[in-house]
Amino acid sequence: MATHRAWFLSFLLLFLVSNYLVLLIRPCAAKFPSCTFDSIYQFGDSISDTGNFIREVPIGAASVYAHLPYGKTFFNMPTGRASNGLLMVDYLALAAHLPLLNPYLKSHSDFTHGVNFAVVGSTALDTSSLAKLNIIPLYTNSSLNVQLQWFKTHLSSICKSKTECAQRLEKSLFMMGEIGLNDCNYAFIEGKTIEEVEKIVPEVFQAIKNATKEVIDHGALRIVVPGSFPLGCFPFYLTTLKSNDSAAYDEFKCLKDLNNFSMYYNNLLQQSILELNQEYPNVVVVYADYYNAFQWLLQDAPYLGFDVGSIRKACCGIGGDYNFDPTRPCGAQMVPVCRHPERRISWDGMHLTQEAYKQMAKWLIRDIMPKIHFIV
Ligand SMILES: *[C@@H]1O[C@H](CO)[C@@H](O)[C@H](O)[C@H]1NC(C)=O
Ligand SMILES: *[C@@H]1O[C@H](CO)[C@@H](O)[C@H](O)[C@H]1NC(C)=O
Ligand SMILES: *[C@@H]1O[C@H](CO)[C@@H](O)[C@H](O)[C@H]1NC(C)=O
Ligand SMILES: *[C@@H]1O[C@H](CO)[C@@H](O)[C@H](O)[C@H]1NC(C)=O
Repeated sequence: MATHRAWFLSFLLLFLVSNYLVLLIRPCAAKFPSCTFDSIYQFGDSISDTGNFIREVPIGAASVYAHLPYGKTFFNMPTGRASNGLLMVDYLALAAHLPLLNPYLKSHSDFTHGVNFAVVGSTALDTSSLAKLNIIPLYTNSSLNVQLQWFKTHLSSICKSKTECAQRLEKSLFMMGEIGLNDCNYAFIEGKTIEEVEKIVPEVFQAIKNATKEVIDHGALRIVVPGSFPLGCFPFYLTTLKSNDSAAYDEFKCLKDLNNFSMYYNNLLQQSILELNQEYPNVVVVYADYYNAFQWLLQDAPYLGFDVGSIRKACCGIGGDYNFDPTRPCGAQMVPVCRHPERRISWDGMHLTQEAYKQMAKWLIRDIMPKIHFIV
């Protein structure tokens, strides 16, 4: 008994002292008093790309995102964002009173408050790893690893030693995604079944874990890893995987199997996040719950100002039950835009409207900031 007590006391003392030391060295470190963040580093795909993809491919060749109606609502011009206006990362920057993040590939950009490395169509796995799984990326080869290389190049331009770099990143928020859903999207589009795609998910998360460890090694202390939307609610899948069987749909008339896949994906991702937190007790890695944030949009649609009658219809698109036709997507000739984008959730069948992103960002910021001890 006495020895137990002595052990406990010495442990407690050690714990307090070591925490105090950490506190002295890192005033804004994890698990300690809250602070504001001064920069955001975003890795990801079209959910967060603010202009990398359109600078990667020759303008006009493949990218509809370099043309109106993309960007029409907020910028009145295309910026490379796959929406009519702002994205969740933009709302995050606004909430933190930071300027909107510049895309890494935009030359002569100001990166004082962070960098956006996200690329439309990007995957967590490299093109070569995907090839081994018989999956071909359809838009870009700038996978998560490529974005990490960009990050390291950027870092070498703003700091010299490991200590100095870690100090620079102390008050940074790292957005590790959303990334990984395209690995699955391509697999589905290229004909794999849900069971087959579930088998590749662990490897996808290994890539995300590896990348997270790498930014931690460079000094990242706070990392957000977003999960999957309920994919079965997206006009793209509602159209391409349409079923006659009413039992295939859930209460929100979304595809049950695909939403089940999204839940499987999210459960496994949260497991990976737990492992990262165990491995790095002085860092906070948190899950961003896109699934429930999106469900909230559906559930509270009327109160949020969304038009309930067209809740699963794309705003920019044409045809079918969901205003979506993969052969005539948003941006193609004569494809119309709805009159009130602010009353729709889906912008083009695969990406959300500015209003949907704004509401999701609001939900997510409220959920996440207290967990990572950042104040916005
Ligand atoms: C991606 O890489 C593949 C094979 O390495 C290449 O054939 C293809 O052109 C690349 N695609 C893009 C968009 O760069
Ligand atoms: C993750 O890192 C490990 C160890 O470096 C490596 O063996 C593995 O191939 C990486 N996996 C992915 C998917 O990047
Ligand atoms: C849908 O129903 C029609 C007629 O009821 C049937 O011919 C068709 O095969 C069904 N399609 C699917 C995908 O089940
Ligand atoms: C949901 O997915 C799990 C795998 O995560 C699978 O075992 C289960 O059968 C699926 N349920 C339905 C109703 O499809």
